[in-house]
Amino acid sequence: MKVGVLISGRGSNLKSLLDACATPGFPAQIVTVISNRPGAGGLDHARAAGVAAETIDHKGFDGREAFETAVTAALEAAGVELLCLAGFMRVVSAGFVRHWQGRMINIHPSLLPLFPGLDTHARALAAGVRLHGCSVHYVNEEVDGGPIIGQAAVPVLPGDDPDSLAARVLTAEHRLYPACLRLVAEGKVRFQGGKAEISGKFDPSARIFNPPAEA
Ligand code: GRF
Repeated sequence: MKVGVLISGRGSNLKSLLDACATPGFPAQIVTVISNRPGAGGLDHARAAGVAAETIDHKGFDGREAFETAVTAALEAAGVELLCLAGFMRVVSAGFVRHWQGRMINIHPSLLPLFPGLDTHARALAAGVRLHGCSVHYVNEEVDGGPIIGQAAVPVLPGDDPDSLAARVLTAEHRLYPACLRLVAEGKVRFQGGKAEISGKFDPSARIFNPPAEA
């Protein structure tokens, strides 16, 4: 499956996808990376992996739709079948969502539907949750509201601040996103009643307790 990735910044999730795609037998290939911000660190990860990388600066366009038309044209010229958003910090329009419907996924740093939007780690700390994490989901018109493909949870620890919590979640993001990309590329994700149904191997004994629940 030919994959395009949209980024805005350092691109550590992009790097995890590039690394996964470089492993033998992985069912997806990243064919192009586009940043809306010039100088985004992630562009270097793409180039180091031999993947085409370009900047399409939203500031150079007269409005969101003109920017998105240029992005879609570049993605389609590269033959992109699936679009991965990885730290892409632009809200996308309804028209862009419709165009890529069912073919666009995103990683979000919270256990959705908790904490959609920005500042998820500070909000998780303010809410006092004991588990936090990340979600990979299809993109629909609702911000961070599309069908969930996969989630990973981490503990919130005493003394955490937004940065320490973000770092713990990020290590989970780097494993979750490639795992979900694999499922999608292998055709193991289907839509059913507005939700994403996945087939594959599951661990019914998996639990995460925080605090630990030893007797
Ligand atoms: C990640 O936390 C991702 O979940 C969020 O933005 C951050 C991007 O980080 N959407 P990076 O650019 O992938 O390092």
